[in-house]
Amino acid sequence: MNTSSFDPKQFRQALGAFTTGVTIVTTRGPDNLDYGLTANSFNSVSIDPPMVLWSINKDSSSAKAFTKGSHFAVHILSTDQESLSNRFAKSSVDKFAELKLQRGPNDIPLLDGCSARFQCKTTYQYEGGDHIILVGEVLAFDHFDKAPLVFHSGSYRRLVSPTSLGKESVIYGENWLGFLLGRAYYQLQLPIRKQLKDLGMQDRDFELLGILSFSEGSTLEELNQLFDFTGKALLSEQLMLWIQKGLLILNEQRLQFTDQGRQLAIQWLAFAKAAEMQALESLSYEEAQQLKLLIGRIIQFTGTDLPTYWRKENIWQDNNIWQQADAILTTG
Ligand SMILES: Cc1cc2nc3c(=O)[nH]c(=O)nc-3n(C[C@H](O)[C@H](O)[C@H](O)COP(=O)(O)O)c2cc1C
Repeated sequence: MNTSSFDPKQFRQALGAFTTGVTIVTTRGPDNLDYGLTANSFNSVSIDPPMVLWSINKDSSSAKAFTKGSHFAVHILSTDQESLSNRFAKSSVDKFAELKLQRGPNDIPLLDGCSARFQCKTTYQYEGGDHIILVGEVLAFDHFDKAPLVFHSGSYRRLVSPTSLGKESVIYGENWLGFLLGRAYYQLQLPIRKQLKDLGMQDRDFELLGILSFSEGSTLEELNQLFDFTGKALLSEQLMLWIQKGLLILNEQRLQFTDQGRQLAIQWLAFAKAAEMQALESLSYEEAQQLKLLIGRIIQFTGTDLPTYWRKENIWQDNNIWQQADAILTTG
């Protein structure tokens, strides 16, 4: 086979099928400066004597520091070190700026917050095409209780532990999707409910607001149909109260926000968005997108028999004040 005809991109993509952790390897150069780079070529070699290896691209600006240096440290990154990994995967930045460092043998820089750390003495170096393979004897190591960052097909990933999934599935009630979604929804609303109380509003006002936020301009009958689907009745007294407070008006049989009502609604929705952002801090951006995508799929699959007025394409249109709430939130 003529290997020189390999398409480098396709070759790289095929290699990316091999799922790895992510490390930052650091050293102290002969010029007494700190060097480091992100590397996923790390692997274990020997238990006795304890040895590890990794490889560095000959074109890397820190290659010389590693091949001339006597020691290096390998840091296996934890899930919350994705941005550090990105920092060390670029050449031209001060990678160590503002990092809390410890020092190992020959003053090699040691980073905090990783899953595991190996301090090594460089024992062998091998030519490996456009890379140099560095083998190190492990002089000391640390293992911290932190979940590792994962790299697969060119993207960062996180592990979902099968043992934790197993544990949850024992208690069926707690693992029922409806319960999980309901509980997440309830807890997501807690900060908003507090804000509502401070504004003198009640929980059911938020429900009305939620439905009006994508159905403003509906007739009373249409609004009733939307409520009907939630299993709760729309209380006419509640609507009357909103009208009396100057938040809603009936205009040619259609319900519309007054300016005051719209401002209040947008403010509440901004609270809701803020609560969402806070809740999503527990997930990476990618996980949050996946979660929404998967829930969206369930909504689509279970909603095929829904009445037309409940279908997204019919209700999620121009009369939607969520975008205005977004604008408020992003401009502060
Ligand atoms: C996940 C990931 C893994 C990487 N693995 C390696 C590797 O094993 N060896 C290597 O030389 N470069 C690797 N790189 C690329 C280097 O981190 C990148 O070229 C960096 O800019 C080198 O820094 P330097 O030029 O300051 O030496 C990897 C990058 C990423 C994002």
